[in-house]
Amino acid sequence: MPRIKRVSTGVPGFDELISGGFKEFSINLVAGGPGTGKTIFAMQFLLDGIKRGEPAVYITFEEKKEKFYEDILSFGWDLEKYEKDNLFVFLEYTPEQVKKVLIEGGGSVDSIITKMKAKRIVIDSITSFSLLYQDELTKKEAALALFELIQKWGCTALLTSEEEEKEGHTISAALEFEVDSIILLYYLKMKGVRHRAIEILKMRGTKHPLKTFSMDIGEKGVIVYPNKIFTLE
Ligand SMILES: Nc1ncnc2c1ncn2[C@@H]1O[C@H](COP(=O)(O)OP(=O)(O)O)[C@@H](O)[C@H]1O
Ligand SMILES: [Mg+2]
Repeated sequence: MPRIKRVSTGVPGFDELISGGFKEFSINLVAGGPGTGKTIFAMQFLLDGIKRGEPAVYITFEEKKEKFYEDILSFGWDLEKYEKDNLFVFLEYTPEQVKKVLIEGGGSVDSIITKMKAKRIVIDSITSFSLLYQDELTKKEAALALFELIQKWGCTALLTSEEEEKEGHTISAALEFEVDSIILLYYLKMKGVRHRAIEILKMRGTKHPLKTFSMDIGEKGVIVYPNKIFTLE
């Protein structure tokens, strides 16, 4: 059996927890509340590819390009430069536009991604997209159509999902079932101070720890501490 290629996440400390990275062509979900670091994590994943010459696409329903580029520059990540080098594309869409792409197949998103030969794709976040669908069945059908497109493009994907701040998780059952992995980000308050943590809830074909690890966001982005188990005390 051929060895499955692993795709580095670009997040220091994280790859060693998941046998070297995401499986090539897999669809991975990073879920967490607001401010938990989903967008920064996702950008690190794209930048890791860009540094290897792999074109990357960032699809968002919420962020505005100019402001986003400015915020991300605080980490020293110059998206404008990568865009000029044809290694990065920022696509701002409404969930309705993406829905249209799924129904009609192809369209502008499809041709942009095919033309640039993207290897990595981020959709940040799929929450507003999945809100377009009322019941779990149509949600599941839409997710499947989207995942088929990602597969066709030959990309390794990272999707983010905005969760409410509470214990446990509330990821749509449709998505939970379909994605290859689920990574949860936490931002928990203890004795008046917030702490960041990360947990691998599921990862197909990968032996991963069942522990929750400490995490931080510093000047180089998200960093995971694989030797620091997170406990609530
Ligand atoms: N330059 C920076 N240095 C350190 N931490 C930062 C920096 N920029 C943002 N952060 C932290 O990251 C958080 C936002 O992370 P983000 O990935 O946008 O969250 P999410 O997408 O999950 O809502 C901010 O609330 C802040 O705590
Ligand atoms: Mg975000």
